[in-house]
Amino acid sequence: MSFLSLHDLSPSEQSLLARAKDAMHFAYSPYSNFCVGAAVEAMDGSIYVGTNLENGAYAGVMHAEMVALAVANNAGVRKLKTIAVIGCPRDGFSEEPVMSCGMCRQYLYEFAQLGSDDMIVIGSNTRQDKILRLSLSELFPRAFGSKDVGVDISRFQ
Ligand code: THU
Ligand code: ZN
Repeated sequence: MSFLSLHDLSPSEQSLLARAKDAMHFAYSPYSNFCVGAAVEAMDGSIYVGTNLENGAYAGVMHAEMVALAVANNAGVRKLKTIAVIGCPRDGFSEEPVMSCGMCRQYLYEFAQLGSDDMIVIGSNTRQDKILRLSLSELFPRAFGSKDVGVDISRFQ
C-alpha cells in the first residue's frame, strides 16, 4: 500500500477530493471536533457530498461517507465509481490520510454490489500530499453481504 500525492490522481479524482475538502467545513461535530468530508462520483459523473453529524446523546453519529451515500440515494443514484474522504481535527490538520471506518466500508460495499466495477476509495490528509487510493475489494476484502444472507438486491440497481 503506497502513498500518493495529489498529482498522482486523475483530474476527476482531484476535483472529487476538492469537493470532499469543501464539504468538510460543514461538519457538525461539536463533540469530537473531528471534521470529515466525503464526495462520491456516480457512474454517470454526478457528484454527491456529505459531512459528519453528531448529537449530544453521542449516539447514532452520521458519518460523512454515509451522508454522501444517502444523498446519492435520494437522487435515485446507487451506481457509484469513486469516493473521496478527507478529515482532520477542527482548526487542525491531519498528517495521515483519513480512511473510512468499518461501518462505512460495509455501506460502501452495499452500494458497490449494485454497480458493475469495484469502487475506488480515496483517503487523504489535509495537505493532500499523503493519499491512499484503493479499490474497495482491497480495503474491505471478503466482505459479508447480501449473498451471505441469500438476498437478491439486483432490483435496487
Ligand atoms: N467519522 C466519519 O465521518 N467517517 C468515518 O468513517 C470515520 C469517523 C466521523 C464520526 C465522528 O463525527 C468523527 O469522525 C470522529 O469519529
Ligand atoms: Zn464511518
